Amino acid sequence: MSTTFRTAVVRTPGGPESIEIIDVPVVEPGAGQVRVQIAGAAVNPVDLALAAGVFHGLGLVDQPDHTGLGWDFAGTVTAAGPDVGLPVGSRVAGLVAGFDRDFGTYAEQLVVPASDTALVPEGLDLTTAASVPLNSLAAAQLVDLLGDGAGRSLLVTGAAGAVGGYVVALAQDRGWRVTGLARAEDEDFVRGLGADFTPQAGPGWDAVADGAALQEQGVALVRDGGLFVGVQPGAEPAEERGVAVRVVVAKPDGARLAQLLDATASGRLPARVHAVVPLDEVAATHRAVAKGGVRGKYVLQP
Ligand SMILES: NC(=O)c1ccc[n+]([C@@H]2O[C@H](COP(=O)([O-])OP(=O)(O)OC[C@H]3O[C@@H](n4cnc5c(N)ncnc54)[C@H](OP(=O)(O)O)[C@@H]3O)[C@@H](O)[C@H]2O)c1
Repeated sequence: MSTTFRTAVVRTPGGPESIEIIDVPVVEPGAGQVRVQIAGAAVNPVDLALAAGVFHGLGLVDQPDHTGLGWDFAGTVTAAGPDVGLPVGSRVAGLVAGFDRDFGTYAEQLVVPASDTALVPEGLDLTTAASVPLNSLAAAQLVDLLGDGAGRSLLVTGAAGAVGGYVVALAQDRGWRVTGLARAEDEDFVRGLGADFTPQAGPGWDAVADGAALQEQGVALVRDGGLFVGVQPGAEPAEERGVAVRVVVAKPDGARLAQLLDATASGRLPARVHAVVPLDEVAATHRAVAKGGVRGKYVLQP
């Protein structure tokens, strides 16, 4: 067996061209950890920001050599540390959070806490499973911040995006009356999730969930004394007119992810993969995502 594996990193961030694929030593899982052979890693906006140096610029990355890319993964357990109940061969998906790390999911393998992973249900392929963790967990945790809707109105911006689409679905379960703000061509998708649709929103909503990261413009859409939940930690817009401003910070949660994967397998949550591409095409894929307009995730295959 090889003693090294391939992984995509940035040393000096500078956009897609600064991404390198390097060989690093295989790591044995410790107590409570599993090693996963990665089958797919979704490309998310946060990865583009990392490669562009946004988080380095904010002082949130302090790596001596290189920084790992990628938050989402799905794959197969190839080794387990002591006291881990997951057998080798288990199909799992998971989320690796945080900016300041020398490893990521854009890789052939990964060592993670077993409790951060969830079994992928039969009937859900690993490529689709790889598109689920970050954005469904962010959405579920965002909806926790919204609380119960009790029939109140919620505008979800970016409702055809990954986070937005999941929020549209999950917030209705908590009693919110949901309207999705998205591009005109996304109307069928948003209505298909059971929500109302608008291509342009005026003010007066009880709450706004800001999947499009409209920030201040999103706060302006909330009624006086309402609630805004954003998606950009560390860049929260200012509170105004008694509008409470909250922000979601997605965290790994294996138990919750298991529910979200089940909901994906059963069709209660949308499953959206735009394309599957080899890891070697990571730079071109980042450039494609940066253009916008992509629906569903690119999934890198190492
Ligand atoms: N805080 C956290 O824990 C966390 C976790 C996950 C993601 N995020 C953040 O959440 C945001 C969304 O991520 P994502 O993966 O869901 O991205 P995405 O799939 O690209 O979704 C964003 C959506 O917003 C749409 N949009 C942008 N401006 C709009 C406007 N003015 N009107 C209507 N629609 C608009 C985009 O449409 P077009 O493509 O046509 O522009 C796209 O459909 C990103 O900023 C990401 O960094 C945060």
